[in-house]
Amino acid sequence: MIKDLEQIKEFALQKIKEAESTDILEQIRVEFLGKKGKITEVLKKLGSLLPEERPKVGSIANEIKEIITNNIQKQYQIVLEKELQKKIEKEQIDITLPGRTYGNGHMHVINQVMNEITGIFIQMGFQVATGPEVETEYYNFESLNTPEDHPARDVHDTFYIKPGVVLRTHTSPVQMRVMEKTKPPVAVIVPGRVYRVDNDASHSPMFNQMEGLLVDEDVTFADLKGTLMYFVHKFFGEDTAVRFRPHYFPFTEPSAEMDISCTVCKGKGCRVCKHSGWLEILGCGMVHPKVFQYAGYDNEKYQGYAFGFGIDRMAMLKFAIPSINLLFDNNLKFLEQF
Ligand code: DAH
Repeated sequence: MIKDLEQIKEFALQKIKEAESTDILEQIRVEFLGKKGKITEVLKKLGSLLPEERPKVGSIANEIKEIITNNIQKQYQIVLEKELQKKIEKEQIDITLPGRTYGNGHMHVINQVMNEITGIFIQMGFQVATGPEVETEYYNFESLNTPEDHPARDVHDTFYIKPGVVLRTHTSPVQMRVMEKTKPPVAVIVPGRVYRVDNDASHSPMFNQMEGLLVDEDVTFADLKGTLMYFVHKFFGEDTAVRFRPHYFPFTEPSAEMDISCTVCKGKGCRVCKHSGWLEILGCGMVHPKVFQYAGYDNEKYQGYAFGFGIDRMAMLKFAIPSINLLFDNNLKFLEQF
């Protein structure tokens, strides 16, 4: 019986040494020391021994019990320490990891350019006016001397909402809306969205324009030139050259297009300016007497000039942006550069 007990002890101590978790140690405790444990089973047989042998075997069994208990306790401490260590490692916070940051938003490049341009004209005494994007054909075409059969009417590919109502193809209708409500002198600029059936690298079906209108007594083409040159020098830089070419618009007479020296090659000739050294940037002219008639202005007493240009195009030229779609794609990698 003593031999049995010794064997059980060796067996238990081996198992304890190999135990790697507190759960296994608990199983071992039950297996050897529990009510139905191996030691208890041996002690149950104590009665079959001679009375004088019983105390000896009993005390050995108790000794072994104590040894096993102590060993379990010791191993328990070791395993507990290891488990804790593992848990700490697993739950460790790496304070050197970069956090998830929320970027600061900023104004879209179009709005930045729009504000800059608006600021330049406000400095010169212009006021900001706005008008509806859903516009009547009357304001978009007819009152601007562009009747139904006028050839200029199909140069704009127009989005029709319903007969007589369109998405405005330019900001020029706001000229008429302002003149109907205001007596001269008038000096307004009109930033806003416009729409045309057009879509490629330099055209988007929706884009932004800036309109200008000045009406007063004794206004000449020289005033128009001076104003636009001042604007271009402020916006593109003092070294920017300017030229005017005769052109046709139904609502101005005479009409012109204005070019600036290429912002990329400074006029030497490159791909952007198609090797001409010049970039076309806006349309302008002296307000047509017919337009004054529609507005109810006395065209003997008053003269006026008007101009219109694409804000998106200005932004593209200023920052050498190759495609207008970049402005509307909402790609942060692109937009964050501005
Ligand atoms: N509305 C014209 C366009 O969208 C631009 C323009 C030309 C506006 C001449 C004007 C102007 O006010 O006088 O192409």
